[in-house]
Amino acid sequence: MQLIDGKAVATAIKKEIATEVERIIANGGKRPHLAAILVGHDGGSETYVANKVKACEECGFTSTLLRFEADITEEELLKKVDELNNDPDVDGFIVQLPLPKHIDEQKVTEAIDYRKDVDGFHPVNVGRLSIGLPCFLSATPNGIMELLARYNIDTKGKKCVVLGRSNIVGKPMANLMMQKQTPGDATVTVCHSHTENIAEECRQADIIIAALGQPHFLKADMVKEGAVVIDVGTTRVPDSTRKSGFRLCGDVDFENVAPKCSFITPVPGGVGPMTIVSLMKNTLLAGKGEIYK
Ligand code: GUN
Repeated sequence: MQLIDGKAVATAIKKEIATEVERIIANGGKRPHLAAILVGHDGGSETYVANKVKACEECGFTSTLLRFEADITEEELLKKVDELNNDPDVDGFIVQLPLPKHIDEQKVTEAIDYRKDVDGFHPVNVGRLSIGLPCFLSATPNGIMELLARYNIDTKGKKCVVLGRSNIVGKPMANLMMQKQTPGDATVTVCHSHTENIAEECRQADIIIAALGQPHFLKADMVKEGAVVIDVGTTRVPDSTRKSGFRLCGDVDFENVAPKCSFITPVPGGVGPMTIVSLMKNTLLAGKGEIYK
């Protein structure tokens, strides 16, 4: 069994990006600039956005954090989105989700100029992904593809089960794994809350990507010997022994599943650090104008 060290890969990629940014600046180019809109004070969102700002520093990017109270109106937020769409210095930006209930998330997502949509959530980017055109890729699936590539994991013709059908992980993940590319070229099955006999589907799989948000869902008797297991779960469970008061729990019963695997990602330190790095990769691409000229 080989542990996939997402933290180490993420650190290496951030260094690669920083080197490229230095080269761009040395050649008289522009420093990539990522802006983030954060609405309200959700604990998880605060942490994610702080980590994104920190990653920007590590990569040599400019970052701007725009904070608003939870009572901002949808109209005011859409106006801010429009300002960022029209700010020539901002190469890409994100609106951290979830948003307060009175704001329509889909409307906000669609208001972002798809050429600055470094989250890859705009329907133009989602559509281009599904037909294999260059686009901004959703961060978590893109991070997983990078891990599969860096660990030389063979996906061609393999049976891949994706657990979960969310718009930001499950669906784009399935799409990427079935594309004519490397990694990719897999035979993909997407399982969800209405799938019959999910355990049997999993037992058939060479690669399982668990993104359900259900702690320890994937048990050892659902995994075949030698499978590759990627754990996207990051549920916060209370833990009084931690300073933060919680620990992150994956969707995989790691202790019992790991001995059966050829490769497996831990939680934390697997997929998580790669997600932010994917956002940095998209920001660099946006800065270079490489996807949408
Ligand atoms: N909330 C949880 N994950 C994400 C993400 O990748 N991007 C944004 N904007 N919000 C999120």
